[in-house]
Amino acid sequence: MQAKAVDTEVGKLRADALLLTLFQDEPLGTSAQLLDRALDGLLTSMVASGELNGKFPERRLVPTLGRAAAPRLMLLGLGRRDLLDGYRLRNALQFAVRDLRNFCRSLAVIVEPALAEVLAVPATGQAPQAPARAIAEGVGLGNYRLGELKAAEGKGAIEEMQLVGLGQGSDLAAALTAGVRLAEATNAARVLQWRPANRLTPADFIAEAELVAKQRHLSLRVVERPEMEKLGMGALLAVAQGSHQPPKLMVMRYRPRSADGSGRVLALLGKGITFDSGGISLKPNPGMAAMKSDMSGAAAVLQAMGVIARTEPHIEVLGLAPLTENMPGGGAVKPGDVVRAMNGTTIEINNTDAEGRLVLADALSYAVSQGATHLVDVATLTGAVSVALGHPVTAAMASSPELLAAVQAAAREAGERVWELPLYPEHDVALTCEIADIRNTSGTPAAGTINGAVFLRPFAAGRPFVHLDIAASSYHFEPLLMKVVPHGPTGVMTRTLAHLPFHLG
Ligand code: BES
Ligand code: ZN
Ligand code: MN
Repeated sequence: MQAKAVDTEVGKLRADALLLTLFQDEPLGTSAQLLDRALDGLLTSMVASGELNGKFPERRLVPTLGRAAAPRLMLLGLGRRDLLDGYRLRNALQFAVRDLRNFCRSLAVIVEPALAEVLAVPATGQAPQAPARAIAEGVGLGNYRLGELKAAEGKGAIEEMQLVGLGQGSDLAAALTAGVRLAEATNAARVLQWRPANRLTPADFIAEAELVAKQRHLSLRVVERPEMEKLGMGALLAVAQGSHQPPKLMVMRYRPRSADGSGRVLALLGKGITFDSGGISLKPNPGMAAMKSDMSGAAAVLQAMGVIARTEPHIEVLGLAPLTENMPGGGAVKPGDVVRAMNGTTIEINNTDAEGRLVLADALSYAVSQGATHLVDVATLTGAVSVALGHPVTAAMASSPELLAAVQAAAREAGERVWELPLYPEHDVALTCEIADIRNTSGTPAAGTINGAVFLRPFAAGRPFVHLDIAASSYHFEPLLMKVVPHGPTGVMTRTLAHLPFHLG
């Protein structure tokens, strides 16, 4: 998608469609009034009849019948002004675009002053760049399609976007370009998330990483099984031992051309279970197919690295993903087995379905061995997080308030939601073990999400560490959020991770 800022009068905008947003129960804005007049009071009469009230996410498509240069106008309700945040805005826009893309190639988004005002505040304050970027992201996200493997899937997409109402400077052009890139990276993560496990093995994921690395001039190293054995990655290897697919550890590295001299090295780690059957602690049948997306964290890290290579922060960034299947079989790890992780910790695997923390433990140790000073992992770790927070939020658990604040600032910029869960000393007790240093699950449902962080934290070796549990926020069901987010993968945290290096200073 291309995006540019223009200064054309709304009636003269040339595009397949105009998109105008409305706040709930508020009078029509300046541009809406202009269009209303051109359309002989159509909008006023729609308001009067109750057909148009700006509720979230109301979509109304009206033909302009030659009264405007664009043949149609989509009216999009953003709901109450005080409830709008970056997440809702992007979701409403992608909802509108999911309809428009089927018959429109070009779209002009009209920004009323009221919207510009609202968006400037919760973002980073750099109006109008932040609103422009947010809108480009929302429109770009709307181009994502689920049916990659469907013969009859439509191919239509918004290819050209114009933005009216925020000015025109070169800063704005840069913001729009950034927004398009971030949306396209998110969509690329979504494609990987939903790719079936037989088409996205650890080796296939590495092939995808090679493409990104080549395109963006990132260095890529792959740790293969023999090296894992030499490094003593007993936790990662234990998960992999039941699978016919060899495990891989992706290690991407972005080196700044001019470093800021702080010596900081940020490691982003994504859980990369390309299929999670549960192993010998086999999952029940319903919902198991969704476990093809248990590599959503890895996808977010990979695509964020691609963006980081282009935005060029002044610190070094590592992108790691431990990649393996979690399968049952005669050679699989068994409940009760004790393994030794790369850092020497002995772990009793009392539940083979808590595999994410095992693979991440060794990835964290490896990141530390590579000089990481700050570590952030993104993982579809626990079903419990959907009980705690539901799908529209990512849970964060942190060993460092500063690093957490950086993640939260990055998430705000990205229009993603991150909510902290606590780590109290009392939580540590859950994983104490009689036979080994630690066990991988507590065996009770209490504090399931927190226990994941309790397990992972020591592997960051005392360095600032944030664990992001995306088991709920990485995908949505059809009825959720009134269908505003398409059923399927969200690419969550791709954009947050892409912004993060800029918030570490
Ligand atoms: N990949 C799952 C978590 C998950 C569940 C992701 C639902 C997406 C949707 C993870 O490996 C897992 O199985 N976690 C267990 C942990 C438990 C055994 C402590 C879970 O949530 O049941
Ligand atoms: Zn899993
Ligand atoms: Mn599991």
